[in-house]
Amino acid sequence: MNQHQQPVLRLENVSRTYRSRSIFKRRDRAPVRALNKVSLEIADGEILGLVGESGSGKTTCGRLIVKLEEPQEGVISLDGVPITGLKGSRLREYRRKVQMIFQDPYQSLNPQLSILESISEPLTIHRIGDRKQRREKVLNVLRDVGLSPPERFIFRYPHQLSGGQRQRVAIARAMVLKPEVVVADEPTSMLDASYSAQIYNILLDMRDRLHVSILFITHNLAAARYLCDRIAVIYRGSIMEIAPAAEVIERPKHPYTQALIDALPKFGMGEERSRFNSLLLTERERASISSCLFFERCARAKERCGREAPSLGCLAPGCSVACFHAEAESIGGNKADQCCYGI
Ligand SMILES: Nc1ncnc2c1ncn2[C@@H]1O[C@H](COP(=O)(O)OP(=O)(O)OP(=O)(O)O)[C@@H](O)[C@H]1O
Ligand SMILES: [Mg+2]
Repeated sequence: MNQHQQPVLRLENVSRTYRSRSIFKRRDRAPVRALNKVSLEIADGEILGLVGESGSGKTTCGRLIVKLEEPQEGVISLDGVPITGLKGSRLREYRRKVQMIFQDPYQSLNPQLSILESISEPLTIHRIGDRKQRREKVLNVLRDVGLSPPERFIFRYPHQLSGGQRQRVAIARAMVLKPEVVVADEPTSMLDASYSAQIYNILLDMRDRLHVSILFITHNLAAARYLCDRIAVIYRGSIMEIAPAAEVIERPKHPYTQALIDALPKFGMGEERSRFNSLLLTERERASISSCLFFERCARAKERCGREAPSLGCLAPGCSVACFHAEAESIGGNKADQCCYGI
């Protein structure tokens, strides 16, 4: 994000902990810190990738943004207005402006509603247009997501569509309200590669036409590189690295990001790309509760990493990393000059 660009959506030190009870024992389970003081900003028309392994807190972050859940700490604001405590018409307006596309369109679409009913439902809820205008909007948005001619699809039900078509309908349902922010939670994880590429292009096209800001949640770094302006890497609820997408993929600074890059399959490359080897083959024990979250798995960890956790520090404008080594290297090797591009 350019320094002068105003963020549309801002998360400041947002935390969410889950406490659950064991079914078999009466005791409470150990609480899970799903998000730990996460701060992020998304600019107007920006696509920010949120990348991390399973259980790292990506969906939790998305659910807090769309207000399916509330954070225990921190502030989320849209256009500078905190969303905590929104009620009545202001809450309804927020729900129109911020939409979510879920991983599994089968679960997010009501099987008893036709495609026409599914996509016009949010318009009805928000009292937008009359019946005829709503139908017109549905036809237009179906064309936008590549379901053409739309008349062929509007009277079908979700089970009469392929997985890729269902996800297009889910995108159409989110976009028909012309939202300011869309959280896309692994929208292609159930699709094959060619369908996924089509969905990425639809999201890019939507961004260009509607100027919508997108939080794109994924496991897939290659997809994030293709689609996103910036990438934030999350590990066990904390942001480890955030920088322009090309920077994260080509010059990852955090050992965890490097391990993710190493794990990418590399097909058709003449010579094997050099590996970072930043991941320990056998995990070590955590030194203390205050140690770096990645300490157990980090091949580069030193004694200091076992004692204290680095905070997310700015290496250069737009480029932040939570790692003592990255800080040391950027100061020692003066890499900061090369590493930062504003978007
Ligand atoms: N309702 C809940 N109750 C208890 N724990 C939860 C709840 N929701 C999430 N968690 C826990 O919070 C952590 C983060 O979960 P989350 O679903 O955000 O991860 P994720 O990054 O989206 O994972 P995935 O890539 O598998 O979708 C996990 O350890 C998960 O078990
Ligand atoms: Mg998830």
